[in-house]
Amino acid sequence: MKYIIANFKSHKTKQEITTYLEELVVEQLQDTKVVLALPFPYLHLLSQSTVTLAAQDVSPFPPGSYTGAVSAVQLADCGVRYCIIGHSERRRYFHETSVEVSNKADELISAKITPIICMGEVEMAKQVATLSESTITKSLFAFENLDDIGGTTTTSKDQIQYQVSQIRDLTKSNSLGILYGGSVNKDNIKTLTGVVDGVLVATASLDPESFSEVVKGFTPHV
Ligand code: PGA
Repeated sequence: MKYIIANFKSHKTKQEITTYLEELVVEQLQDTKVVLALPFPYLHLLSQSTVTLAAQDVSPFPPGSYTGAVSAVQLADCGVRYCIIGHSERRRYFHETSVEVSNKADELISAKITPIICMGEVEMAKQVATLSESTITKSLFAFENLDDIGGTTTTSKDQIQYQVSQIRDLTKSNSLGILYGGSVNKDNIKTLTGVVDGVLVATASLDPESFSEVVKGFTPHV
């Protein structure tokens, strides 16, 4: 399976997302999941059957007295199928730790949501060490190069291949879905085909036409 994940971060208003969804043209593909990670207040706006719903974060706790937190059970109730956790911005601005990411992954799996565990090179070994074998087998992993997030360049193909092999070694698995994120766009997407199982796209996903081009570029048979 291939994965193309659009991450809207904190961009866009309700009206802007509604218009975006009207304009987005994505074919339903058997072996590719096109996923939109929307901000919490707008999860309900996604009704397109060709696109799968994701969230950008989740509570590390079960449902209960945790003011401001959104539980995995609540996300599942909203139709969320995937959830990004451990993104570098969460680690940097919200001081999210690898242990919290691990707890979030377990909450998601209990609610039948697939975690997309983001890791930079620095925290990779520590992050994988916090995860149980069963959590690892039920998750997707995304390697992110901090220097390339929000920019225009991408890490070289060799570097990405090396990081993918690092993740495979650390997780002791050859069958995990491994994604890459960092300045992915319609011009460089073709170089990633065959290197990773999917991509995380933020800046280039914010325009529906540009995102459709990324999807087409990663699925050349379409
Ligand atoms: P970008 O962000 O596509 O804007 O580089 C990637 C990410 O934050 O995952």
